[in-house]
Amino acid sequence: MTDCLKPLRIGGITVDFPVVLAPLAGYSDLSYRLICRGLSAPYCSTEAMLDTHLLHEGKLKQRLSRVDEADHPVAGQLLGCEPAVMAAAAVVIGDAGYDVIDLNFACPVRKVLARGRGGFLMSRPELALDIVKAVLDAVPGKPVTLKLRRSFRDVDQGEEDFWRVAHGAFDAGVTAICVHARSVEQKYRGRADWGFLSRVKRAFPDRTIIGSGDVLTAGDALRMLHETGVDGASAARGAIGNPWFFRQARDIASSRTPFQPSLADQRELLSRHFELTREIYGPRVGVKKMRNFGIHYARLHPHPAQARRAAALVTTEKAWRDFLESHYPDFRG
Ligand SMILES: Cc1cc2nc3c(=O)[nH]c(=O)nc-3n(C[C@H](O)[C@H](O)[C@H](O)COP(=O)(O)O)c2cc1C
Repeated sequence: MTDCLKPLRIGGITVDFPVVLAPLAGYSDLSYRLICRGLSAPYCSTEAMLDTHLLHEGKLKQRLSRVDEADHPVAGQLLGCEPAVMAAAAVVIGDAGYDVIDLNFACPVRKVLARGRGGFLMSRPELALDIVKAVLDAVPGKPVTLKLRRSFRDVDQGEEDFWRVAHGAFDAGVTAICVHARSVEQKYRGRADWGFLSRVKRAFPDRTIIGSGDVLTAGDALRMLHETGVDGASAARGAIGNPWFFRQARDIASSRTPFQPSLADQRELLSRHFELTREIYGPRVGVKKMRNFGIHYARLHPHPAQARRAAALVTTEKAWRDFLESHYPDFRG
């Protein structure tokens, strides 16, 4: 299976291992990206950032455009619907130091679609391509990539629109596309169509194609690479609460038993993650973030349901420390 493991190339960037952290709203923030980097994630994407948020001075813009030197190569993902606004936001994150500009034409959230953003653009190929061209013109020399869905609807001319966007984007100068093999209408339900990923790779043999959908374990990531021929596999739900995913994928690729974190490993990681969120968001928001992450980290705990219930009750820094003490005890002390 390891014969499919070539480095992933995104323009001039070489990513040494082809299993990467997906853009994940609520999860792939700077804190979690740094956690995943520490466990050998080779390439990460930000959460989708609304273009207008990057155009107004303030704390939010400051936080979104913060790039850490330990977090490279990193893609900054943009969400928007107006070519000029997306282009202006691309300049902001390009100047901030993001290595790649990724455009989100995939988000299925109702409010996002209602505003003509995200996955809505899969049904408006001409507008999608106008955005692509405006961004490419605005950040010459920066790799620009797209996150697409297989189609907007399952019926109609959905697939035709996909091919128009994909061909048009590559012709215009886009470096790579990541394809979530579900329709926008499907949201996250049902199976991702990996057969579609194979077809996309066959249609663009010399282009970089990253696959997304149903990469729930490290084994799935390698299977996707092997079965579909895509150049990279994007770990999304599979990596939420399991940052060891990337190490496990490397283990499997090298025929080693995939690493399983002990409770002590988990405790150390949760503590470090809390310190990062505290530094980035301050203690109050940091605790809120960790409550959410803690609920997901619980899946690796020997008593997941108990740990999950306890994490959900954390509201203060003291409660967080008590939670760690009782559910992830430090036997060394
Ligand atoms: C909680 C959550 C947040 C997500 N946020 C984003 C996002 O901000 N940008 C994006 O392009 N995709 C986003 N996605 C989609 C994932 O990147 C991925 O394409 C999708 O989950 C399919 O992969 P999976 O079936 O392996 O989870 C999100 C998915 C989830 C579950």
